Amino acid sequence: MRPIPWILTIAALFSVVWSIEKGTNENPSVIPTKPSQPSKYYANRREVFNIGTNVILMCSNKTWNEIFYVTWNITVRGHSCRISSSNDGQKSVNTCKDGKSLQNTSRVQPYLHIPNFSADDVGLYMCESPYNGGSENYNINVSITVAPKISAWLEGNDSDMVAFCRAEQGNPAANISWSPAVNTSVEITQESDGFFTVESRLSEEEFPENLTCIISHQLWSQDKTLVPDWNKTKTVAKAHLALAYTGVVGVVLVILAGFLYFVLKKPTLLPLCQQTDTSRSKPPVTDEVEEVEPYASYVQRVNSIYN
Ligand SMILES: *[C@@H]1O[C@H](CO)[C@@H](O)[C@H](O)[C@H]1NC(C)=O
Ligand SMILES: *[C@@H]1O[C@H](CO)[C@@H](O)[C@H](O)[C@H]1NC(C)=O
Ligand SMILES: *[C@@H]1O[C@H](CO)[C@@H](O)[C@H](O)[C@H]1NC(C)=O
Ligand SMILES: *[C@@H]1O[C@H](CO)[C@@H](O)[C@H](O)[C@H]1NC(C)=O
Ligand SMILES: *[C@@H]1O[C@H](CO)[C@@H](O)[C@H](O)[C@H]1NC(C)=O
Ligand SMILES: *[C@@H]1O[C@H](CO)[C@@H](O)[C@H](O)[C@H]1NC(C)=O
Ligand SMILES: *[C@@H]1O[C@H](CO)[C@@H](O)[C@H](O)[C@H]1NC(C)=O
Ligand SMILES: *[C@@H]1O[C@H](CO)[C@@H](O)[C@H](O)[C@H]1NC(C)=O
Ligand SMILES: *[C@@H]1O[C@H](CO)[C@@H](O)[C@H](O)[C@H]1NC(C)=O
Ligand SMILES: *[C@@H]1O[C@H](CO)[C@@H](O)[C@H](O)[C@H]1NC(C)=O
Repeated sequence: MRPIPWILTIAALFSVVWSIEKGTNENPSVIPTKPSQPSKYYANRREVFNIGTNVILMCSNKTWNEIFYVTWNITVRGHSCRISSSNDGQKSVNTCKDGKSLQNTSRVQPYLHIPNFSADDVGLYMCESPYNGGSENYNINVSITVAPKISAWLEGNDSDMVAFCRAEQGNPAANISWSPAVNTSVEITQESDGFFTVESRLSEEEFPENLTCIISHQLWSQDKTLVPDWNKTKTVAKAHLALAYTGVVGVVLVILAGFLYFVLKKPTLLPLCQQTDTSRSKPPVTDEVEEVEPYASYVQRVNSIYN
């Protein structure tokens, strides 16, 4: 019975050693290189923070005991600055004059502190933290959670109506649905500034009376509902259009009245009218008085109408 515990102990020892080795081998930060060269681990990350929060960005989980220094190269809104410190605290640099700073966790791990996070802090954060035998490097794409601007409206005419619901310039993208539930297509576009605009269109011949658009976003504790309605500008435009129509109709009526007056008053001149059709492309008849004798009376009469 004695040898078995021994064997177990040895087996346990081996498994511990193996798991340690396995652990380091599995670690993606170790890129197989010559043992003499330090291994560098590069990765891109994406982090999203809420406006007004105090942000903690870590480059590595290692403590100051293990790492030599930490450098952050920060590019926000087109300009860059740099924050770095060595483990003895001797070489400290901070060219970002906006409140960002290096601080220590209770376990004495360095982290970058961004107080009162705002859109001005959105950008690219590149960090490097070298340690004995390697270094960790991250490009961290930092963005902000923003609630979208929302709107809903109707477009179209009697035969074909489209309801729109839109959540503009949000991050992340908002969710849009309709009530009563209908099959809709949702189109998501990402703007150049990284924010998302979501639009849903609903095309129906007739909408239910209480059609509402429901928009949800992670910054809102409750969904927002909107009832699509005709745009104010749209109704104004319609009024203008109506005005234009009445104008056109009025002009047509005046012309018709004039024509009728002429026709009814001088029915004998109709044949002459038809003849003049051949010279229709010519300018008004006033200058043609000399041409042919029978036209003279016609021309005079026409003039009398217009005077
Ligand atoms: C830090 O440690 C946590 C948990 O141990 C892990 O999930 C995380 O990925 C680590 N971060 C870095 C930068 O290594
Ligand atoms: C963080 O810890 C390091 C190492 O102990 C020290 O040199 C540095 O001054 C500390 N930084 C802050 C902001 O406390
Ligand atoms: C955070 O920033 C906003 C605007 O940038 C400011 O109005 C607010 O007072 C700041 N809050 C704190 C706690 O500094
Ligand atoms: C951050 O990520 C977004 C979306 O992936 C991308 O459009 C943007 O260019 C990135 N910004 C930087 C500075 O890399
Ligand atoms: C930061 O910028 C400096 C100077 O431009 C450069 O030497 C260093 O490698 C950069 N570090 C990182 C982590 O990008
Ligand atoms: C009005 O409806 C017709 C028929 O569906 C459609 O072809 C036309 O584009 C619509 N006009 C406007 C201004 O929406
Ligand atoms: C629509 O309104 C009617 C009454 O006006 C109501 O009975 C019905 O539940 C409403 N539907 C939805 C989806 O809200
Ligand atoms: C709604 O969408 C589902 C799945 O996309 C489809 O099976 C169903 O036929 C659609 N209903 C209507 C009324 O278009
Ligand atoms: C949006 O919808 C997706 C899928 O339906 C869901 O996983 C996600 O949590 C929703 N987001 C919000 C902010 O409601
Ligand atoms: C209606 O209003 C929305 C925003 O309120 C706007 O995006 C859209 O272009 C408007 N549509 C028309 C036809 O004026």
